[in-house]
Amino acid sequence: DVDQKVEALLSKMSIEEKVGQMTQVTIDLILDDNSLDAIDEKKLKEAILNKKVGSILNVKGSAYTMDTWHKIQKRIQEVATKETPNKIPVLYGIDAIHGANYIEGSTLYPHNIGMAASRNPELVRQSAKLTATETRASGIRWNFDPVLGLGRQPLWSRFEETFGEDVHLVTAMGTAAIKGYEEDGLKSPTAVASCMKHYLGYSIPASGKDRTPAYIPEYTLREYLLPPFKSAVDAGTSTVMINSGEINGVPVHASKYLLTDLLRGELGFEGVAVSDWEDVIRLHTRHKVADTPKEAVRLAVEAGLDMSMVPYDYSFYDLLLELVKEGAISESRIDESVRRIIKLKYKLGLFDNPFPEKAALAKVDPKKSQEVALNAARETITLLKNEKSVLPLKKGAKVLVAGPAANNLTSLHSSWSYVWQGNDDRQYPKSTLTIKEGLEAKLGKGNVISAAQRDYNHAANFDAGQLKKDAASVDYIVLCLGEDAYAETPGNIDDLTLDSKQLALASAAMATGKPVILVLVEGRPRVISSIENDIPGILLAYRPSTMGAQAIAEVLTGEYNPNGILPYTYPKHTGDLIKYDHKYTEGIREDEPNTYTNGAYRPQWAFGHGLSYTTFEFSNLKADKATFSAGEKLNLTVTVKNTGKRAGKVTVELYSRDLFASITPNFKRLRKFEKIELAAGASKQVSFTVSPEELAFINAQGKKVTEPGTFEFIVKDQVVSVEYKTGQEN
Ligand code: IFM
Repeated sequence: DVDQKVEALLSKMSIEEKVGQMTQVTIDLILDDNSLDAIDEKKLKEAILNKKVGSILNVKGSAYTMDTWHKIQKRIQEVATKETPNKIPVLYGIDAIHGANYIEGSTLYPHNIGMAASRNPELVRQSAKLTATETRASGIRWNFDPVLGLGRQPLWSRFEETFGEDVHLVTAMGTAAIKGYEEDGLKSPTAVASCMKHYLGYSIPASGKDRTPAYIPEYTLREYLLPPFKSAVDAGTSTVMINSGEINGVPVHASKYLLTDLLRGELGFEGVAVSDWEDVIRLHTRHKVADTPKEAVRLAVEAGLDMSMVPYDYSFYDLLLELVKEGAISESRIDESVRRIIKLKYKLGLFDNPFPEKAALAKVDPKKSQEVALNAARETITLLKNEKSVLPLKKGAKVLVAGPAANNLTSLHSSWSYVWQGNDDRQYPKSTLTIKEGLEAKLGKGNVISAAQRDYNHAANFDAGQLKKDAASVDYIVLCLGEDAYAETPGNIDDLTLDSKQLALASAAMATGKPVILVLVEGRPRVISSIENDIPGILLAYRPSTMGAQAIAEVLTGEYNPNGILPYTYPKHTGDLIKYDHKYTEGIREDEPNTYTNGAYRPQWAFGHGLSYTTFEFSNLKADKATFSAGEKLNLTVTVKNTGKRAGKVTVELYSRDLFASITPNFKRLRKFEKIELAAGASKQVSFTVSPEELAFINAQGKKVTEPGTFEFIVKDQVVSVEYKTGQEN
């Protein structure tokens, strides 16, 4: 079996080979400086034969076609599997975080933040599987996805990569992604090794700036941040990537508590732990907890790291080798990591065939990918406001399309789209539509006048007089605002408020007197409270990607009935970032000092908010028991009726409220959700089963407990109370 093969191989490997397996470099270290589509043979030999590198990321050429990829990959594998002593294949890795974005023409799915709005884990699973297939077909079997951090700090530049602010939602969606990547078994042409990231606490830096310190009490860590990772481990994720930041003064890459005690000991994770980009050396250069680069390597490996994404040089290899030879790190510690890495390579079938597989290529189905991407984009779009049913646009409408997001592909896709920051629209397939083009396709070219400013920095360079003239002949202004593409540090901002240039454009549009429909294309909630009141229709598109423009046009014209609901609290003020699951005393305002209830939660739009072109009524929420005890399950049912005139989808969300507890309870917590479709006039009973464990919280002793007492269960305006009898430690 695999374990025996791994042990047999391990026993033959030199210490140099072992340390090489723990080293991951970027392809840039191997490519020819003059032609990024070719390998520099000298550099290749240095990497594979001299430094015995076990893993390479971003294995592509500048043309990013399958052919270039395959050519480069094959050559590397040839050297690894023919010229090295033990013929160990190289493991390639990539960030295909919303589709196989590194391949020309591939379909990109909405970013996770939109996927979470869909409340449809099945769409997440399907897109992950299609991404896996294309990634595998490109020759790569390891995808650095999914992101499992909670989106609770909207200033953070990677907010769009999260599944939103709620722990249950992130857990459900993240687990669905892992299933999509791995459920067919790692040898399958439709699977890749997934990578839960960034373990742990990356998404809530105190300052909101990427890779800056976080201060996280053990309670918060375990109550909110750990569950998605626990569920990912239980779902069988193969790898983990470590948070580049520090928590409570300890860089996560140097934390034995997080990387070994918690991850391996408590969660039982047995896969490969890889660092993030350059993060081992940064223990010395940035975090300053290691006084030499060598000490940085020692700290990270002793903490529990298996592989270093070095990735620009061989310093990790050289220093780790020295440490082992000096006895500062034992060979048995190295063996633990190499065992995991080799095992993953076996499981992925790399020892059987390290080359790009024909079987995977045969499974690539661009039509299917586009279909799923369109369904996903449709289900993500969230109708935030629809005063006097200004939407859908009336038949035969004439519109003026304006704003920097109107004729712009990069803001629709943002990060990890063909290029790292997604900010080069020359890379997008010619067939991808902008919002303006999407509307032209639906309304007819003659009915769409464009006043689009492509550049966000020049959003203010509009001619107000011209805007007014153009608007005179139209029925609506579709104003597309939001954010251009960004990733990681370049996406850092100081203020959540939408920039003044775009707000000025909105004021000018409103001054024309025509109804303004605002389409927000943004990766995080940008505060728009100064203009919101005067805008009757507002649609949030998040980062809908390849099929996004079509989906937006379908929603605007009413061809598709929107059903996305907010995966985060949309703030009204940048200084008021209370979450839906706040504590009772949170957010007391000076004008309402006695507000100990949800009255303090006054966002622009609440978590879970999202409108439809039809209406739904909820009734008859019932529990099958008035009391329940440990070991028992509670069944809850609610009736949902479509009371409007057209069919529509709706998400039924079940929340719970623990009335009194030894740790201050949350105002409410999302426990279950289910999306259903109802024809006009139809109704359906939806059931949820809840176990006591699902109502548990982390108590002052750090234990997960369900305490006896009254629980309220809530679906929209329906509430039912149930008594939990026995106390229970989970
Ligand atoms: O996987 C990513 C990570 O999310 C951010 N830093 C770079 C890694 C590899 O590209």
